Amino acid sequence: MHITKTAFILFFMAVSLATHSSYGQSDELQIIPKPANVVVKEGIFTLNNRTGIAYDETFQVSAGFLRNYITSGSSIDLNGKASIHFIKETALPNPESYILDIEPSQIKIMASTDKGAFYAVQTLRQLLPPSFENGTCEKNDVAIPAMYIEDSPEFPYRGMHLDVCRHMFSIDNIKTYIDAIAMLKFNTFHWHLTDDQGWRIEIKKYPNLQKVAAYRTETLIGHYNTEPQQFDGKRYGGYYTQEQIKDIVAYAQSRHVTVIPEIEMPGHAQAAISAYPELGCTGKKIDAATKWGVFDDIFCPKDATFEFLQDVLDEVLELFPSEYIHIGGDEAPKTRWEACQHCQTLIKNKGLKDEHELQSYFITRIEKYLNSKGRQIIGWDEILEGGLAPNATVMSWRGTNGAVEAAKLNHNVIMTPNSHLYFDYYQFDGDGEPLAIGGYIPLEKVYNLNPIPDGLTEEQAGYVLGAQANLWTEYIPTFDQVTYMVFPRILALSEVIWRNPKNKNYNEFAARVENFQNRLDVLGINYANHLNTITGSMSPNGFVLKTPILNKDIYYTLDGNLPQIHSKKYTAPIPIMGNTHIKAAVFEDNKQVSSVFSQSINHHKAFGAKITLNPLPHKTYSGSGAEGMVNGISGSSSRYGDKEWIGYSGEDVEIVIDLGKKTKINTIETRFYHAPGQWIYAPKSVEIGFNGSSSKTVTLHPTDDLMANLKIDLKKTKSRFIFIKVPNFGIIPEGKQGAGHRAWTFIDEIIVN
Ligand code: ACM
Ligand code: ZN
Repeated sequence: MHITKTAFILFFMAVSLATHSSYGQSDELQIIPKPANVVVKEGIFTLNNRTGIAYDETFQVSAGFLRNYITSGSSIDLNGKASIHFIKETALPNPESYILDIEPSQIKIMASTDKGAFYAVQTLRQLLPPSFENGTCEKNDVAIPAMYIEDSPEFPYRGMHLDVCRHMFSIDNIKTYIDAIAMLKFNTFHWHLTDDQGWRIEIKKYPNLQKVAAYRTETLIGHYNTEPQQFDGKRYGGYYTQEQIKDIVAYAQSRHVTVIPEIEMPGHAQAAISAYPELGCTGKKIDAATKWGVFDDIFCPKDATFEFLQDVLDEVLELFPSEYIHIGGDEAPKTRWEACQHCQTLIKNKGLKDEHELQSYFITRIEKYLNSKGRQIIGWDEILEGGLAPNATVMSWRGTNGAVEAAKLNHNVIMTPNSHLYFDYYQFDGDGEPLAIGGYIPLEKVYNLNPIPDGLTEEQAGYVLGAQANLWTEYIPTFDQVTYMVFPRILALSEVIWRNPKNKNYNEFAARVENFQNRLDVLGINYANHLNTITGSMSPNGFVLKTPILNKDIYYTLDGNLPQIHSKKYTAPIPIMGNTHIKAAVFEDNKQVSSVFSQSINHHKAFGAKITLNPLPHKTYSGSGAEGMVNGISGSSSRYGDKEWIGYSGEDVEIVIDLGKKTKINTIETRFYHAPGQWIYAPKSVEIGFNGSSSKTVTLHPTDDLMANLKIDLKKTKSRFIFIKVPNFGIIPEGKQGAGHRAWTFIDEIIVN
């Protein structure tokens, strides 16, 4: 923490002004991401036609943005006497820091750079009525409460990613996306431009990229895991011209957003190889992929390939001034390289150990090329395998291990863990969500992320540049759905990377999200709203109902009827004495404002029993802990990430249930999730034992695409203890997603009757 002159000033003001606050303690300032320091002062500044803006050329972008925002948002023309001043202030923690000092007589925006001032303007924007967003503010005098804000980002890299290969979005859509991220003080747009299903950037030297690689013959319908797979029979594709890309880059620049292009190599290259088969190992003609996943046909590391990629990058560098260029590096199966004469000779000649070192050779060679042009590479965490290129920044997506490993090697890292920041995953554990790839990352989970992974020293933590959410668009065909998946989770991410609140208060944050929805409504941005949604959980005192925003009125029934305003009002956990069905809803002004929450609780013989799990579940998928395995509540039948499933990465599991006394047991039931597309496999068999009798092994068969049910009839066994051994499925077979890795195991409620 740097002690600056302004920090001192702020401290002084805090002391002198705290008593004059016009905002009560509970009246949080409605700004997202929440500024670091705010002191509310007495009085208001009035924005009207007597207002004008003064700035020098340092602040052209930010002042221009503010002028345009106000004049197009209202009839206020800003031709009055200068009372909004942009002032250069160098004594601030970093170039993105700002001070926004609103007094009744003037507004001062202080920053050392235009970037800092731009963020002051975004804060000021949120102090104006949402009607400015679409030019419908009809007021001639707009009151802004006087306050002093000193604000500064915690992380220098604040990114949002968008995949335009699986589905493509218009230039206007991309601009809306950039507008949205800039509003929330993100500074990077990671544009995923090439993949197996389509090449989306015009490269003039290679016309087949436009003619061939930009199109696929058809697209998978429905979920990848649904058998048999079906296709729509419709040609799909297109690409962005270099003129369009220049337009986007300039547009982003005028919002202080850097566009980082991603050109995938050596994997996810099937579309490129469809246009130029000689870039692959086999030389055979293939088509751009029509479904999702990981494909074997990757770039062959021969001179012609490097020439192609360098030519491509030459044109990319002309279009994108970004220091960083993303070169992919993820999910490159080595199948073709293993069988390729050229690849094998290259491994020998270069003294490489294996295909992983060949990938490292590939990436390092490209890095050298880009470094020679004054650029740096970013790659997905697989670029650690076989040796990290000397100057590479690692984007950690498979959890956080890649980040820890890279930071320990003194490499910069960017956090995009698929446990918290894959916004293509489900955000709500209930009906009505659009089809998604899988997973479950609700708003609260994003909000609770700490971008600094465990296991780093303070110095190593310094290599964490920031974080980014990824939006892969396999299941996202429209831009309305893009924003639905992004909002409101991006609000949580903005908070986590701008300030990473030390004392997180999700309920307080959720209330600000609810307020922010007014702005999104006016902006016409489609978003998910689960803020009134009731969630339930078992506690030692009974069943707890809550909503993200506190103090909502919840009414419930236990008789199967729909809840009404006359039903019982929820005030304390509901005691569970037998099989119970709870239905609940939120009411506001006598109107139901939530969907109906419905939960059956199975009061079986192991309900609330003592249970131990060895080992403990993976910390990202720990469900409701061991107790959650016997809490009477089964997990979702379509999503493994909810709080009733527990997940293990590759481990064998031993479960012991203590029923407290010798008990007659007729049946034991549970479910194992089975989603090979997500590396999740039901065990091949399970072993069940009791005290005083020999154990028995039960073979399992997944009964449908997603589930393997286990039901054991025991013919009145008597036992106090139940021992369940769940061996991991083992190594994922060749040809499947995640081949070569150990499978995940997901286990549901264990029901004993
Ligand atoms: C990735 O999700 N394959 C980076
Ligand atoms: Zn090859």
